Amino acid sequence: MNEKISVIGAGTMGHGIAQISAMSGFEVWIYDIKEEILFNAIEKIKQSLEKFKAKGVITDINEVLSRINKTTSLEDALKNSNYMIEAVPEILDLKLQIFKKAESIIPDAEFFGTNTSSLPISEISRQLTLKQKVVGIHFFNPPQLMKLVEIIKGNYTSEETLNKAVGFGKRLNKVPVIVKKDVPGFIVNRLLARLMNASCQIVENNVANIIQIDSALKYKLGFPMGVFELADYSGIDVFYLVFRAMKERGFIGDFCKTFEKMYEEGKFGVKTGEGFYKYPGKGVYKKPDIPSEAGSKFDPWLVVSPEVGEALWLIKNDIASESDINTASMLGLGYPKGIVQMGKEFGLTNVKDRLKKLADITGKEEYDYLLQYFD
Ligand code: CAA
Repeated sequence: MNEKISVIGAGTMGHGIAQISAMSGFEVWIYDIKEEILFNAIEKIKQSLEKFKAKGVITDINEVLSRINKTTSLEDALKNSNYMIEAVPEILDLKLQIFKKAESIIPDAEFFGTNTSSLPISEISRQLTLKQKVVGIHFFNPPQLMKLVEIIKGNYTSEETLNKAVGFGKRLNKVPVIVKKDVPGFIVNRLLARLMNASCQIVENNVANIIQIDSALKYKLGFPMGVFELADYSGIDVFYLVFRAMKERGFIGDFCKTFEKMYEEGKFGVKTGEGFYKYPGKGVYKKPDIPSEAGSKFDPWLVVSPEVGEALWLIKNDIASESDINTASMLGLGYPKGIVQMGKEFGLTNVKDRLKKLADITGKEEYDYLLQYFD
């Protein structure tokens, strides 16, 4: 009998986590509140499995699908499970209801994982009985392709739970990095928050436009997507809400107004058909046209410098190791090299110069704050 995993929530992340779990041999039970959501999740899983079959990653789509069960009953999803991963909307009360149910139905589970990208793990575990079993297991979009998983130690997470979560990540063929303290945004979203906000502020200050920045990031630094392209791809709503939650919990940074405006206007990117770029229809993805020469006059280090500063902050505060931060940026964001390694190769003095320039252009204090971590 295969081990059973309950994936709670069948959205973008939930369906991807369910798929990779089934591909790794687990018996998966995926839960959501409506049949329609579950139906759409299975359709997306089928489409993705077809791509994997075409590449020879799997041989039999139906064999993988036969391990995925869907249900609108939380009890059925949870009973007899060995593992739980929650990937529901970022609403604390909703998550708490799920974790409370899980600890009462399957107290012997190996761990209770949350894929939250913005809520501290400890805010969830604090209100539970089996606090020590709650751990952050944060995947990246698209979970089927991004090799990284951040394993986050909450204030109550036991070493045993942390180790089990690391082992579990490896069984899904992911590369786990450890986030030693429960800071808002963990590793990758803290890096992205710096890059996205600096890029957006540069546009607001009329220094460069969206295409110039995206082009320079892609063609000068080798990023897989431009930063605005990525915002559209994963969702402007997602990033806006993540950044807002981070700021509410003490992340130092004045977030770019354009994100808020687009969030309020419902321009979320690919999912609504329009974001920083336009798409053929709602949810219809087509790569935006970003010419390689468009960014020839823009220096991408102007917007990447605060990302390096944030990485240095993470190291100095003992949140993550330099090596894990480098891994996280390569496998969670698809960078050609780790962000610290890139910074060192460019020269930290040069990075610091760009950060000073960014501080001058934007007048934002957070960049002065980050400068101290270069010393
Ligand atoms: N399942 C299986 N295969 C898929 C797939 C899926 N869901 N999606 C795409 N593919 C396949 C494509 O069909 C394509 O196959 P071929 O090579 O045979 O054509 C291949 O993957 C590559 O895809 P594309 O050609 O469309 O695009 P690409 O080369 O740009 O790669 C990408 C896509 C891997 C997503 C890459 O662009 C990338 O790494 N982008 C950065 C993504 C990123 O930063 N993610 C993190 C977001 S932040 C986050 O998630 C955290 C949070 O909490 C908000």
